[in-house]
Amino acid sequence: MSEAKFKQIAQTIISRITEGYYPPNSKLPPHRVLADELNTTPVTVAKAYKLLVEQNRVESFVGRGTFVCGESQLSRVIHASEDETEFNFSILQPCLSHNIIALQDGFQKAATRITPQLIGYAEYSGHQQHRQVGVEWAARYGLSGGTLENTLLTDGAQNALALLIEALTKPGDTIAIESLTYPGILAIASLMRREVIGIEMDAHGITPDGLQHVLQTAKPKVVIVVPSHQNPTGVSMPAARREIIAQLIRDSHTWLIEDDIYGFLNPAPIPAICNWLPEQGFHVTSLSKAISPALRCGFIKVPDAQISTINAHIRANIWLSSPFNYQVAAELVSSGMAFELAQRQQQLAQQRQQIAQEILTPETPHQHGYHIWLKLPPHWQPERFVLEAAKRHLLVSSGSYFAVHQPTNHIRLSLMSINSEARFREGLHQLKDLIDTCTTSTLPFQV
Ligand SMILES: Cc1ncc(COP(=O)(O)O)c(C=O)c1O
Repeated sequence: MSEAKFKQIAQTIISRITEGYYPPNSKLPPHRVLADELNTTPVTVAKAYKLLVEQNRVESFVGRGTFVCGESQLSRVIHASEDETEFNFSILQPCLSHNIIALQDGFQKAATRITPQLIGYAEYSGHQQHRQVGVEWAARYGLSGGTLENTLLTDGAQNALALLIEALTKPGDTIAIESLTYPGILAIASLMRREVIGIEMDAHGITPDGLQHVLQTAKPKVVIVVPSHQNPTGVSMPAARREIIAQLIRDSHTWLIEDDIYGFLNPAPIPAICNWLPEQGFHVTSLSKAISPALRCGFIKVPDAQISTINAHIRANIWLSSPFNYQVAAELVSSGMAFELAQRQQQLAQQRQQIAQEILTPETPHQHGYHIWLKLPPHWQPERFVLEAAKRHLLVSSGSYFAVHQPTNHIRLSLMSINSEARFREGLHQLKDLIDTCTTSTLPFQV
């Protein structure tokens, strides 16, 4: 069997998934049936299916067959568990116990401001004073040029990403993303049937050469970058690299979506890539990571010529994000409390990084973000590790869900979702014991 043949078959299947011929969750034909149709052997089809399993495009179940990955894989990689017996290292959220009193206060003040206008429908994605929250928040952490007119409100950054991908691309278009990326972006691309292509990364994020190559060969409609404390690798892009990346995108006439949701964690503000791309850059941020994901307060700074298009998409999708939640955000921003909470979470993240460094001694240098990207020793395969960890009530995320194409032997650990430091330490010690365990039951399984 030629090397290329099974890859060609896999590509055919991907095209059929993209075109909707094999919809999400549908069962793929048995090996023999597809082999006859494509004039090949069942062994070649089996190999193509195996490749697609590795790329997380399809799933195989013994005795049931192979299925197109459905809805999204987010629920398998990120667990929003409320079970006190679990050590949840899978979800990237602030240490929420530190924010409760400020939030209670914000909600109480917002409740006293309830007027018919506040609890009714609003134009332009939300009220002016709520768009002002987005302008101030993004400006504090490195964005310039945000105004009441070009700053639009969404239900968090996830909603902003989905709206932008929907508005800027169509099914079958290619989106260029970091070669290891936030699975929420992969989930949107998969559900909306957009192709993705990974851009090579180094210790400072996507590389100029990698971006240049992808722009020239794949002609993506959109490039998506998470420039600060990137999810999952944790790397941050310095200002000089940002300027070069902006220049390459400007020259290629491509859109940029800059997801700067972790920008507030930088020790000092770094200019947004969008600062160099006023006509092509969409800057996304939200209050989820500094204050609370339950607020669902997200912001997009939109190029002037695109404001009405993106407003139309917001209106068609959600009409407007909850003005009451934005009123809470407005209370916290106008009193300065929002920025204090952000700073506290930033300090806490640094402490947690230090503790993780001591207990796990990871290869990666010390970072400032909410998570670490941990390389497993060769005796562990990430999926197997996640299963074994779950048996011990340790919830971690397998690196394979973040990989666009290449295999990875990493897991991602959130350092902030366990509120108590004592439990956090205990969970890390248990993880360390498991990582160091090497028994026959932990040997990689054959797919
Ligand atoms: C890079 C990135 N973008 C967006 C989101 C979603 O954020 P939000 O809660 O504001 O929708 C996350 C959440 O983990 C993320 O890591």
